[in-house]
This record gives sequence, structure tokens and C-alpha cells, in this order.
Amino acid sequence: MLVDGPVEVQLPDGTTVVSDRFQVALCACRRSRNYPFCDASHRRRR
Ligand code: FES
Repeated sequence: MLVDGPVEVQLPDGTTVVSDRFQVALCACRRSRNYPFCDASHRRRR
């Protein structure tokens, strides 16, 4: 999911992560090793 940055994302555990990029790819599949940001893990086959 692409969103315009900068963004501040609050995770379910209460922690906050920040990205000051112009555009940010957020992970919607939960497979990213860099969650909540997309690392293209959604492309891998199971
Ligand atoms: S959407 Fe989850 S890794 Fe890309």
C-alpha cells in the first residue's frame, strides 16, 4: 500500500515507527521482515 510520506505508524504494541520518505510502501500482507514497511516479501511464492 503506497502512501505519501512522511508517515508515523503506531503498531498494535504501542510503539511508533517513522519514515520521512516522499512515498512509503506499507505492508498489508504481514510477511515483511521490515514490518510495517513493505520489503517485497509479498512477491515470494509459498
Ligand atoms: S505487502 Fe507485505 S511485504 Fe509487501
